[in-house]
Amino acid sequence: MPRLDSAPSDISVELDGQLVPARKGEPVAVSLWAADEKVFSRSIKYHRPRGPFCMTGACAQCLMRVNGVPNIATCCTPAEPGMRLERQNAFPSAKLDLFGLTDWLFPRGLNHHEMFAGVPIAEQVMAKVARQLAGLGKLPDKEPPPRLPAEHVQIDTVVVGAGASGLGAAEVLKQAGVPHLLLEREDEAGGRLIFGPPEEHSPSPALPNGEAIRLGTTALGVLEEPNGHFLAASTREQLLTIHPKRFVLCNGGHPQLIPFENNDLPGVIAARAVSRMIRRHRLLAGKRIAVVGEPIEARAVAALVRVAGGEPVAIGGKPLRAHGVSDVSSITVLLEGKEQKFDCDAVALCAPAAPSFELARQCGARVDWNPEAQVFCVQADGDGRTQAKGVYAAGELLGPMSSVEAHESGKRAAKALIADRGTA
Ligand code: FES
Repeated sequence: MPRLDSAPSDISVELDGQLVPARKGEPVAVSLWAADEKVFSRSIKYHRPRGPFCMTGACAQCLMRVNGVPNIATCCTPAEPGMRLERQNAFPSAKLDLFGLTDWLFPRGLNHHEMFAGVPIAEQVMAKVARQLAGLGKLPDKEPPPRLPAEHVQIDTVVVGAGASGLGAAEVLKQAGVPHLLLEREDEAGGRLIFGPPEEHSPSPALPNGEAIRLGTTALGVLEEPNGHFLAASTREQLLTIHPKRFVLCNGGHPQLIPFENNDLPGVIAARAVSRMIRRHRLLAGKRIAVVGEPIEARAVAALVRVAGGEPVAIGGKPLRAHGVSDVSSITVLLEGKEQKFDCDAVALCAPAAPSFELARQCGARVDWNPEAQVFCVQADGDGRTQAKGVYAAGELLGPMSSVEAHESGKRAAKALIADRGTA
């Protein structure tokens, strides 16, 4: 796939024994995509080909065995010289997987719970076969190296997520002198401000002066303790427990898959993944990209693809069927009132992000279905106060919104926190 800069691929990684050029430090999934490798593994049950979808560690479509360790999200794993990558759940290989026959043999679905149930011996054999096939990857080659001892942090306020809303919240907290810690799972602050489709008047992704931030730190979950809740987070090397008095949750949303036939073919990817590849990794996901789904985002992504030298097609069409054998080669959409088929080598799906509501729910906040946006959203008042005391939510956790709106919502949540803190 076309690289958008002239920097050389400076290292090689090994994919199922074959050398593939890569760039040191970029996500190895990006290096593989650039080398036109889109099939990363096979699904467990039907052995359909799998390839990256979100490029943010949210979908599990890019898992591979890396250096002998199974189920590693290659979209979040930097390429290293000599890295060993193996495709999982396939025999003899993910490109030609004999178990892929399952998908042809059972076109109406396979219920292994009932297959041969009640038939002596065959029932036990079937249960054993199902157990063997249903495991995700094989155990690691060796024990992992020991991690650093866990670090425990006491802080007034933790802000989870340094995208548009988290940066807005941090700015207000900083100005008011509220001691806080900003967490970001990526290696850079900014979220969609730096990788999403460009938006008009979007705020700066720069950190407030002197801001304390932990980059490369993933929030794992919120757990209860006698006096409230604490946050478990992790870097590559270490577990952290963060014990705040207050939470500002700005951890956004993840790309959604639109339902249509063959939507799981490798090459069908989130529009934000296409945009991320262009803006952060200087890689065009395909020469001809169908940009389908929600029309406003589709127009923005199509413009980005065009500027990068690609050809966007089917812009804003409603996807009906994707076609292809091992990866996508064309798509049928409903566009201008009629079915049309477009050849393409990638499909960018535009849909509102699904709020990553789990942390808020674990804190005790309410989460409800939003029928208009068709996603579950965290419930909060106009200033981001959730039902849980001391827990504020902002940005795309509350539902689809622009980065400008998200930034403002982060500021409002921080102001509400400061007001409540004064009265507590
Ligand atoms: S988790 Fe890697 S592409 Fe989604």
